[in-house]
Amino acid sequence: MLPLSTIEQEVAKRRTFAIISHPDAGKTTLTEKLLLFGGAIRLAGTVKARKASKHATSDWMEIEKQRGISVTSSVMQFDYNGHRVNILDTPGHQDFSEDTYRTLTAADSAVMLIDVAKGVEAQTKKLFQVCRMRGIPIFTFINKLDREGQNPFDLLEELEQVLGIRSYPMNWPIGMGSSLCGVYDRQKTQLELFQGDDHKNIEVRKVEDYNDPIVKEVAGEFLYDQLVQDLELLDVAGDPFDFDKVMRGELTPVFFGSAVNNFGVQTFLENFLQLAPAPTPRNSTAGVVEPTKPGFSGYVFKIQANMNPAHRDRLAFLRIVSGKFERGMTVRHVREGKNIKLSQPQQFLAQDRDIVEEAFPGDIIGLFDPGIFRIGDSLSEKEELRFDELPTFSPELFCKVTVKNALKHKQYQKGLDQLTEEGTIQIFRTIGFEDIILGVVGQLQFEVFEYRMKNEYGVDIQLQKLNYQFARWIVDEKVDPGKFRINSTLVKDKNDNYVALFESEYALRSAQEKNPTAQFLPTAP
Ligand code: G4P
Repeated sequence: MLPLSTIEQEVAKRRTFAIISHPDAGKTTLTEKLLLFGGAIRLAGTVKARKASKHATSDWMEIEKQRGISVTSSVMQFDYNGHRVNILDTPGHQDFSEDTYRTLTAADSAVMLIDVAKGVEAQTKKLFQVCRMRGIPIFTFINKLDREGQNPFDLLEELEQVLGIRSYPMNWPIGMGSSLCGVYDRQKTQLELFQGDDHKNIEVRKVEDYNDPIVKEVAGEFLYDQLVQDLELLDVAGDPFDFDKVMRGELTPVFFGSAVNNFGVQTFLENFLQLAPAPTPRNSTAGVVEPTKPGFSGYVFKIQANMNPAHRDRLAFLRIVSGKFERGMTVRHVREGKNIKLSQPQQFLAQDRDIVEEAFPGDIIGLFDPGIFRIGDSLSEKEELRFDELPTFSPELFCKVTVKNALKHKQYQKGLDQLTEEGTIQIFRTIGFEDIILGVVGQLQFEVFEYRMKNEYGVDIQLQKLNYQFARWIVDEKVDPGKFRINSTLVKDKNDNYVALFESEYALRSAQEKNPTAQFLPTAP
């Protein structure tokens, strides 16, 4: 066994995070710049090309090619200044899925990317709430400073009003859009000057503080006056920097920059690596598992089918929680009560799937899955421990499914079972008629379901959109279906729990009023 200190060193240098944003805020661009700094890719445009799905190795599914989007979330790893960085890629497209949410459970911190003109947008808000639930640190990058945007104070106000998080600006813009001069770094008391695109090296001017005459000389009188006014206000009325609050996700350090111009990205990366936590412990049936605890352990947070269409294999994504992973090692599959050999682990770089020989806490590995894994499964070298269950999310979109060819019913059932197990969809059955209703969080999940039913199980299905918006699990001593007939539909989930589907918030509220003893839970109890 390795001396503990090696694991400690490996843990200390790792940072595993996800970028959360709304489509078009610049996530692909930022990811690419970060990978370029780390030397993980050599050519700008690599990630972009992947997004446009031209030569992408992530095009495992035809549907990705057709739509030019990444259905799957993958993981990118690079080294920078002695750190090993794992970026968990969450699909940026509007049609995100429960996978996107679950991927966030494998991250130790998040980078929230915001468009300076658009502020906090819908998808950012949803993803933020999942991070908030876990209390992980959130770092904010306000992007596109080279374009006209909102007043920085208004943006900070929006973070507080809409997301309920206080902020600490690490730097502050001097001008914006066509008048962008640069940013003032509040920690290092220096100016970083914007010189347009194609400037790899940002010009940095060290100053005493923002009253230094150099600032005025560089910014010009108008921008200087504005800057001093803003910074004075921040010093007096802004929150002080409080590392503990950052760690608890109560205060977000904010950085302004422009990803496409590579402006402010390096400063952001360096500060982020310094402040963001190394791999954090996870709760289990055997108590809190620290990353430095001897003995490998981890949990499956995502299952990806058909990574390679030539083989109908599945890949289980595992987040390592403790110990060292070595290729070929034998571990306990706790739910199955069996020992299994981990012989074909994959790692995910921007371009290739490599075979991993060893990996450490915070790393994500892909395990070849002949159908033995489920989301939330724990693997452990030493103890029979199970990590906390992964959260489930309330479906917001619903469709009724019918099979076109009744003779295919067996394959259809098999497909339903497997896809539910993967966490791709949630299924409900209507009471009496036993109609199948699918519930998802993103429209794309329907298309993936339809595609996979046809391609993997040979079943043609028809989906009929339903107008429900909310699903609520009804917990009551005795559920009276009659009471749910008006304004809602009562169905059962795969474990025979009662779930009521509502078309509007009004319908939900009136059902709650009519059933005062019942609990209406957004996810399964
Ligand atoms: P996403 O992954 O979050 O969806 O966003 P992506 O990086 O694809 O960026 C969306 C658009 O915003 C792209 O423009 C990109 O070039 C642009 N962008 C990213 N960062 C900045 C920035 O700092 N300043 C400005 N002005 N634009 C930025 P596009 O026209 O959609 O694509 P492309 O033609 O540039 O490839």
